[in-house]
Amino acid sequence: MRTPILAGNWKMFKTIAEANEFTSQLLAKTPIAGVEQVICAPFTALPALSASLKGSHYALGAQNMHFEEQGAFTGEISPLMLKELGVAYVILGHSERRQYFNETDETVNKKTKAALAHGLKPIVCVGESLQEYEAGQTEEVVARQTKLALVGVEKAQLADVVIAYEPIWAIGTGKSSSADEANKTIAYIRQVIAGLYDQASADAVRIQYGGSVKPDNVESYLTQSDIDGALVGGASLTVDGYTSLIAGASAARR
Ligand code: PGA
Repeated sequence: MRTPILAGNWKMFKTIAEANEFTSQLLAKTPIAGVEQVICAPFTALPALSASLKGSHYALGAQNMHFEEQGAFTGEISPLMLKELGVAYVILGHSERRQYFNETDETVNKKTKAALAHGLKPIVCVGESLQEYEAGQTEEVVARQTKLALVGVEKAQLADVVIAYEPIWAIGTGKSSSADEANKTIAYIRQVIAGLYDQASADAVRIQYGGSVKPDNVESYLTQSDIDGALVGGASLTVDGYTSLIAGASAARR
């Protein structure tokens, strides 16, 4: 039985003051069990969140990192630096990074291996564009991205990897992939992982859906056989939204 994982991706939202306001409201609420809960915040808010979320129900995540430990890489943040802050998860290969910041399958792979080597759990994003979706290339794209992200990742490390299937055309558009369709693609990704490793490893790996997940549709995704959680942008930005998503995810597993 895979523990569902609900991760909020704040993207480039929230100053430190806003992040502190969010956590003070969040920590005043009764936590919900049975769902792993992550907040992926901008780098600048990580120290404050690390302090306030310490010992809580909520794990901290970053949204990107460099693959080297240190070096002349102006503007970059290393796995060691994230680790030092108590970060547990790091989103890698988000479509916005692939699209706007030249992230490639090769750098996603380097980052995935670096994260694992430093005890960080990567949330590796894969997903097709609208054009690829319309051309019927979804499986081909997610298979390629998944395989290339996992080159050199050992079977024993797979337990710390989370995959997020996010069709690009569904991100921030309000156009979500139907739960059934998302489940089919996620089951296919699991099959790809079985081919790379074995069935038991594929059955154990957690695969999230992302793209316009909201409190009112999260349950429909998480009741699907192969969807193990959600990576949520917009709807995770308010405490009410975030906690409703978690409540929905928890209800889906009952
Ligand atoms: P969205 O973003 O929930 O706002 O569609 C999802 C994501 O980009 O991770």
